[in-house]
Amino acid sequence: MYTFGITRKKKDKKVKKKKVIIDCDPGIDDSLALMLALSMEELEVLGITVVCGNSPVEMGVGNAKKVLQFMDRLDVPVFAGAAAPLRREFVNALDTHGRDGLGESFLPDVKGYDQEMEAEEFLARTIKEESCSVIALGPLTNLARLLRKDPESFGQMEELVSMGGSFKSHGNCSPVAEYNYWADPDSAAVVYEAMGKSGKKMVMTGLDVTRKIVLTPDLLEYMKRLDSRTGGFVERITRFYFDFHWMQEHLIGCVINDPLAVAYFADRSLCSGFESHVQIETEGISKGQTLVDSMNFYGKTPNALVLTQTDPLRFFQMFYGKILKRTAESLDLLPCLVRR
Ligand code: BDR
Ligand code: CA
Repeated sequence: MYTFGITRKKKDKKVKKKKVIIDCDPGIDDSLALMLALSMEELEVLGITVVCGNSPVEMGVGNAKKVLQFMDRLDVPVFAGAAAPLRREFVNALDTHGRDGLGESFLPDVKGYDQEMEAEEFLARTIKEESCSVIALGPLTNLARLLRKDPESFGQMEELVSMGGSFKSHGNCSPVAEYNYWADPDSAAVVYEAMGKSGKKMVMTGLDVTRKIVLTPDLLEYMKRLDSRTGGFVERITRFYFDFHWMQEHLIGCVINDPLAVAYFADRSLCSGFESHVQIETEGISKGQTLVDSMNFYGKTPNALVLTQTDPLRFFQMFYGKILKRTAESLDLLPCLVRR
């Protein structure tokens, strides 16, 4: 009888999906992050909100729909958000992501599937109605606007995982600043401050960890051998990114920042770090810098979990496993990885 009970329980056990909204600025690596999130049975993507960042917001909405079409997931709604940062002039990153924001792949536009509701309204309503988290892969403007519009809803977010900032790694927009926080430092500053006030911790998935996630030519070739459709799509959107990394830092391959935030959200064992108070610099030559008070000089309560360690092999096992629908054991990724 007892044994039967256990068997029944096991049989009935369903994976409890973590509900999440993905706020992003697609963007090449944002698109890879969306592919990962949409492939994970552990996650339920309730919607995608788009912010200006890598690309202007309307272009970002179009790119999100292109990814959804490729994934055959146009059932996931996409909402346009902020077209400009809170206080500053908008500076896109099309030099990094190509004129179409998607590596100059120039994939055909997806007609229809337009949502009238604005991103901040969708965020406010959904967070209140569902117990959900947000993974933010672009500048934090939509989150700052949500905070201003509906602080109660902002406070009800389960978790906020952001790709942005850096602790000891150098910046990618200035010597000290990472793009997402550099592009809209004012939003980043208010969002981090509000997280502290609400007693929650922002998960800062910054350059210290994301720089270790390099899609190498060998990895890409291996992906194409395993699955020519998905590998071909990834190649089409990352070719430009490979060229950019070569020109910018003589790196053969490309750093794919955003998927690590999704991977960590689903599996906490992929990264580790420490809790600290983090403040964002909003003015002058260090604007966008994340001031991580790791030694607690200011004696402030931690408002962030700062990730500093990750395991690229395990990340790629997850990434390939999910988007190619393979088991980790069936993948032989180690020879394709460049240790950094
Ligand atoms: C971040 O900036 C963007 O270019 C990427 O999409 C990523 O979110 C890295 O600094
Ligand atoms: Ca991004």
